[in-house]
Amino acid sequence: MADSARHPSFWDAAYRRGDHREHWESLDVEGEISAAFGAGAPGEGLLAPGREVLDVGCGAGSGALALAARGLRVIAVDGSAVALELGRRRARRRGLAVDWRAGSALGLPVADRSVDLVVDRGCLHVIARRQRRRYAKEVARVLRPGGSLVVWAARCDDEELGLLGLGAHEANRLFGPRGFGRALAAPAVLSARAGSLAANLLVLARADEARRTRRSPSPR
Ligand SMILES: C[S@@+](CC[C@H](N)C(=O)[O-])C[C@H]1O[C@@H](n2cnc3c(N)ncnc32)[C@H](O)[C@@H]1O
Repeated sequence: MADSARHPSFWDAAYRRGDHREHWESLDVEGEISAAFGAGAPGEGLLAPGREVLDVGCGAGSGALALAARGLRVIAVDGSAVALELGRRRARRRGLAVDWRAGSALGLPVADRSVDLVVDRGCLHVIARRQRRRYAKEVARVLRPGGSLVVWAARCDDEELGLLGLGAHEANRLFGPRGFGRALAAPAVLSARAGSLAANLLVLARADEARRTRRSPSPR
C-alpha cells in the first residue's frame, strides 16, 4: 500500500475470512491495556470509573469489550459492517454493553466534545498520511477539553502489511495545532497469532479550556 487508504470492502472481506484472529487481534488485550494505563505508563490513570471512551477502528471489538468489562461506557466505531457484527455477537455472548457505530475515522459519527478518552489500536496506522489531518480534526472535535487520545501504531512503515508508521514527531505535528500537549511515547509490542509488531504507544492530552484560555494572548 502506498500512501492510500483501503476501502471498507477490503476490511469486510478480511473479517469474513477471519484474518483478524490471525493477523491483528491482540493475544493479550489485558496486558496491552495494563501496559498503557497501569502504574508508570504514559496513560496512567486514564481509565477512571465513569469515563466515556471512543474506540476508533474497533474492529471485531476485543479492545472495546475489554474496556466495557472494566465498567467504562464505550462507543466503538469502525468502517467495516462485518467487523461490527462480529463485535455485537461477542458482546451479546459476554453480556456487555457497547455502543457500536458504523462510520469513518475521518467523519466520526460521534457528537462534539462527548468523550473523555479516544483509543485507537491499529487504525491510524492504516490511514494514509495525507488524510491524517482530518483524523486529528475529528478526534479534537469529539474529545472533551482535558480528554486524552491513546494510540497504538506501527513504529515503521511496512509495505507488505500495508502499515504507515507513526511516531511522536508526526503525532505532535498533527495534534499540536489542535490544542494537544506534546505526545508521550513509549515503545510497545502488538502481539497477534501470526507474529509481533514493533509499535509505539502514544498518549496525547487535549488541554482543558481554562488552561487554553490562560495561554492565549489577551485582546488589547
Ligand atoms: C488493524 S485493524 C485493528 C482493529 C482493532 N482495533 C484491533 O485491534 O483488533 C484496523 C481497523 O481499522 C478499521 N478502519 C480502517 N480505516 C478506517 C477508517 N477510515 N474509519 C474507520 N475504521 C477504519 C478497519 O475496518 C479495521 O477494523
